[in-house]
Amino acid sequence: MRLYRKEGTTIQIISYPHEEVQKGTYLTVEDRNGANSLIVQVISIEYANVPGILEELLRSCEGYSWVQGEDLDPLQIATQVDYIQDARLLTCKIRATNHSGKLISTCSWLPPRSSAIIKRLPIEKLLTQTNVKNAIPLNLGETTEKKELVVDARTLDGGLNIITGKKGTGKSHISKLLTLGLVRSGAPVVVLDLNGEYAGLGRNAEGRPNEFHHKVSILTPGENLKLTLGQLRLSVMMTILVNALSLPGTSAREFRRIWRFLEEKGALSMLELGETIKNWKCNQHVRDALFSRYHTLLGSGLFTDDSTFATSLENSLLKTRVGGAIIINLRDTPTVDRLIVVEYVLGRLVELLSKRKLRAVFLLAEEAHLYLRETYWNDIVTRMRHFGLFTTFITNQPDTIRENIYRQADNLFLFNFNNEHDLETVSRASKVDVETVKSVARDLPPYHCLVLGKAVKDFPVVIRVRYLDVQVMGRTRLFFS
Ligand SMILES: Nc1ncnc2c1ncn2[C@@H]1O[C@H](COP(=O)(O)OP(=O)(O)OP(=O)(O)O)[C@@H](O)[C@H]1O
Ligand SMILES: [Mg+2]
Repeated sequence: MRLYRKEGTTIQIISYPHEEVQKGTYLTVEDRNGANSLIVQVISIEYANVPGILEELLRSCEGYSWVQGEDLDPLQIATQVDYIQDARLLTCKIRATNHSGKLISTCSWLPPRSSAIIKRLPIEKLLTQTNVKNAIPLNLGETTEKKELVVDARTLDGGLNIITGKKGTGKSHISKLLTLGLVRSGAPVVVLDLNGEYAGLGRNAEGRPNEFHHKVSILTPGENLKLTLGQLRLSVMMTILVNALSLPGTSAREFRRIWRFLEEKGALSMLELGETIKNWKCNQHVRDALFSRYHTLLGSGLFTDDSTFATSLENSLLKTRVGGAIIINLRDTPTVDRLIVVEYVLGRLVELLSKRKLRAVFLLAEEAHLYLRETYWNDIVTRMRHFGLFTTFITNQPDTIRENIYRQADNLFLFNFNNEHDLETVSRASKVDVETVKSVARDLPPYHCLVLGKAVKDFPVVIRVRYLDVQVMGRTRLFFS
């Protein structure tokens, strides 16, 4: 390989046909004594457009086969010409500079063009160069060099992760892999499962219980997730009413009074609540507003007056303190009820975290825009992070996540996109340069992703996500089998 050009943080390298490189491959460009080097990543591979190549190609094309005669090549240059025709031009991004073993993330040195030595840099070696030991190993899959990529689970701690890519590329799969990796490392995980896909995590592909069987509990609202009003704090109820059910201010104030009244009477139940609203002295519009919300709550099937049917989310959460996952199955839950459940679960989580009953919780949210209210997004990435709620958003519509949220992401798992608009959204918002995202993400095959961020020490790495022996649920139902 030969160094050809450098422009800003981009360098171009000429590579010969026998040299094996792929998009995502890392190379080092060293000086002669190897004291300094640039660490660069190939982001695009083109033919080298040498002057006269078009003419040469036209001359050697099949159309001339009718010409009778013998091919003479006294100077033996035909193979050379073929070699030049097949030469490739690699566009690479500079990721770091190595000054006598010390890595600097900027490009502060220019290699000599005439004598630079260019070599492949195995990803395994690159990631060990940064001197961070994998304290809690988490195997994500294979790199393009067919070596395992094991990251440190601690890099997912305290942060925000985003998994995005077009439909069916394997986003939920990697999110399951992260869930089980975290559970194995002793972390508590809560999954907001929109399609009922995570229910099989406790079983292997044949349906037999696996090592996580007792660590995964599935809570379905209305079935095994039911609450009594006594379990709810007024503040959580108010958030449900105001945010999920859009209860106006005056009515909310009246509801507060009713709640306090029932609390003092020791009669906090759905039945009593209904009766009290009916007989409460207040404006008719307020009563109507309260009644309609009451019926929505009643219709959700989430509330019960019989404490034997009630679920203690607190107990389930406390059990996950030594590693466990709670899957909130939102599959058959109508939109309004989804909002109620999510408000309740998040309210409860924040309460337990702020009382320090739980150290931290990893929250995985699939297509969060369908049940997370506007104001939660920023809250989750700023305020809730300090309480110890670390979120992973999973979506196939990147524009449902706002740009400022992408910027705060500590890790981004980017699967294939070929839609220009989606690529544009992700590339504008991620920490890595636009060209890398656009050029690499467009060509990712299914089950392959580009990992960006802390997990890979800010060196973008392409991996094929590891197979997971768990029962696959929530497949798209088809008419033609
Ligand atoms: N690394 C992998 N190895 C083997 N199978 C995989 C892998 N990743 C995904 N799959 C399979 O591919 C199918 C689609 O994957 P998955 O459901 O994770 O995609 P998705 O991106 O979440 O799709 P959607 O956008 O529809 O939610 C699943 O049947 C899954 O089991
Ligand atoms: Mg999915």
